[in-house]
Amino acid sequence: APRTPLIAGNWKMNLDHLQAVAFVQKLHWTLKDAKHEDGSVEVAVFPPFTDLRTVQTLLDADKIPFALGAQDLSAHDSGAYTGEVSGAFLAKLDNRYVIIGHSERRQYHAESDEVVAAKVKAALRHGLIPVICVGETSEDLEKFGASAVPVAQLTAALAGVKADAEIVVAYEPVWAIGSGQAATPQQAQDVCATLRGVIAEKLGADAAAKTRVLYGGSVKAANIASFMREPDVDGALVGGASLVVDEFAAIIRYQK
Ligand code: G3H
Repeated sequence: APRTPLIAGNWKMNLDHLQAVAFVQKLHWTLKDAKHEDGSVEVAVFPPFTDLRTVQTLLDADKIPFALGAQDLSAHDSGAYTGEVSGAFLAKLDNRYVIIGHSERRQYHAESDEVVAAKVKAALRHGLIPVICVGETSEDLEKFGASAVPVAQLTAALAGVKADAEIVVAYEPVWAIGSGQAATPQQAQDVCATLRGVIAEKLGADAAAKTRVLYGGSVKAANIASFMREPDVDGALVGGASLVVDEFAAIIRYQK
């Protein structure tokens, strides 16, 4: 396969830096000899900002092959932005990824498509791979169908992005997040394929073939394989189930 599957754990506002150490160590031991060790699946964890330094030190010291990512970043590089975190700081802590435009940021922190686009550019400026989240609410779904809002959000987020930029896209229907009611594999496939079309249109066919498009929303060990069997679903952005060692390990060990 041309695209390495990515299993990403978004911890959201869970696990402090001490709990993070115990969690990452336990996950690593549980996964000994799993396929992520041979690089056939990439695993990434997205802890809160305050954990990043500690988790980075642990991954490095114990040679644990998980990629590190942050859950957000500032659109600015430095300056008078109280409470914000620069992509430059995240890059210095060996973060590979940064989640941008998660529905919880859009909903509770009023992040507009313009803010999301500025953050995508900030991530790329600092050599971070943006994990661009898009998805429709249940109201959007009723009014416009599944793909209209995700397509508009992705189109806006890709404004000014160069064709050779590495990005990841995550399709997360808002109604499926934390609800226990995942999209069907066919629903996920349809929107992920449509989003790949947006990438082709904005960044070209090469970028579309290379870019990983993830599904997120109530992914668990029992349904991961059904999503991974779909040709345009290249991995998962996992919330709740990424906080339970055995469950997240089972998701990483999915068999198609
Ligand atoms: O970023 C992760 C998503 O919001 C999915 O969360 O797996 O708890 O539904 P969930």
